[in-house]
Amino acid sequence: MRVFVAGATGVLGRRLVPMLVEAGHEVTGMTRTPAKAALLREFGAHPVVADALDPDAVGRAVAESAPEVIVHELTAIPANLDLRRFDRDFALTNRLRTEGTDNLLSAGRAVGVRRFVAQSYAAWNTARTGPQVRTEQDPLDPDPPKPLRRTLEAIRYLEEAVTGATWTEGIVLRYGGFYGPGTSMAIRPPSPMVEMVRKRWLPIVGDGAGVMSFIHIDDAAAATVAAVERGRRGIYNIVDDEPAPASQWLPALAHAVGARPPLHVPRWLGRLLAGEAAVVLMTRVRGASNAKARRELGWRPRYPSWRQGFLGDAS
Ligand SMILES: NC(=O)c1ccc[n+]([C@@H]2O[C@H](COP(=O)([O-])OP(=O)(O)OC[C@H]3O[C@@H](n4cnc5c(N)ncnc54)[C@H](OP(=O)(O)O)[C@@H]3O)[C@@H](O)[C@H]2O)c1
Repeated sequence: MRVFVAGATGVLGRRLVPMLVEAGHEVTGMTRTPAKAALLREFGAHPVVADALDPDAVGRAVAESAPEVIVHELTAIPANLDLRRFDRDFALTNRLRTEGTDNLLSAGRAVGVRRFVAQSYAAWNTARTGPQVRTEQDPLDPDPPKPLRRTLEAIRYLEEAVTGATWTEGIVLRYGGFYGPGTSMAIRPPSPMVEMVRKRWLPIVGDGAGVMSFIHIDDAAAATVAAVERGRRGIYNIVDDEPAPASQWLPALAHAVGARPPLHVPRWLGRLLAGEAAVVLMTRVRGASNAKARRELGWRPRYPSWRQGFLGDAS
C-alpha cells in the first residue's frame, strides 16, 4: 500500500518506516526539516518536507503522494518535562494533536485515504477509578490534575476526530510509555529520566500504587504496521502484558541501570517537590489491557513484559 507517515523521523517513525518498507509498502515520510530527507531516503522512503501546522503544505504533500493510508505520529515533547507546567511543555504537541490532526484529516479526505492511523496515549489519561487495568471502552479521565487538562483535551480531540471520520477507517493507537533505544527511558545512552534514576532523584511517592503500562518502541512500531494493514475503526491499546505500579517498575529500572533502589517520600513531600500531577502519576493512575490489539490486529509484543525489556539489548 502507499503509506504517508507524518512524524517519520521521530523515535517511533525511525523504527516504523523501515518496517513498513520491509513489509512491501511504498512509504512517503514527512519532516519539517530538509536535512532529514536523506535519512528517510536511507530507510527506503520518499521524503517530503512540510510543516504539519500549514494546511496548504500538508494538503500538497498528501495530494502528491496519493496515499491509501496516513499515519500520524507528530509530536514536539521537550526532553525535560516539568510536571508542574505539563500543559505549557505540551503546548506545541497539543497543536499538532488538534490543528495537525485536522490538517492531515482534510488532506486525507481530499484524496480518499482508506485508513487513518493516529497516535494517542494509554499511560495516565484514563479515569482513575475502578479496576487497575482499563480497556479501550473505559472513559478518559473526566477530572485530570490541573496541569494536564489541556493536554488531555487535545488527546480527546484527536481521538474523537479520528474515530469520528466516517469516510475512512479512523484508528487510534493508545501507546503505553515508550522505552528502548532513543526513547525518554533509553538506558544507552542514558536519557535524562534514566540519569535521574541513577542519581536517586526519582523517588517513589506515597504507596507508589499508580499503575503504568509500557511498550518497547519496536513493539509499538510493529503494532502500527498491523494497524496500517488490518486495523478497523476504533481505539487500540498498544501496551505490553504487564501493567505495573511504580513501586515495582521504578526499583526494577534502578536495578537495570545499576543504581541503588529509589528513595521513598510521603505524598506531601512529593507534592511539595514536584506538584500534584506527579503525586497522581505515582499513586493513582491506571494501566491498560492489550487484549483487543492481540485479538483484532493479530499482534503480539516481542517484549511481553518491561521486566525483560528494561534489561539487555532491548534498551
Ligand atoms: N514517548 C512516549 O512514551 C509516547 C507514548 C505514547 C504516545 N506517544 C506519541 O507517539 C508519537 C511518536 O512519538 P515519538 O517519540 O516518535 O516523537 P518524536 O521523536 O518527538 O518525533 C516527532 C516527529 O514529529 C515531527 N514534527 C514535529 N513537529 C512537526 C511539524 N510542525 N511539522 C512536521 N513534522 C513535525 C518531527 O519531524 P522533524 O523533526 O523531522 O521535522 C518528528 O518526526 C508522538 O505523537 C507521541 O506523542 C509517545
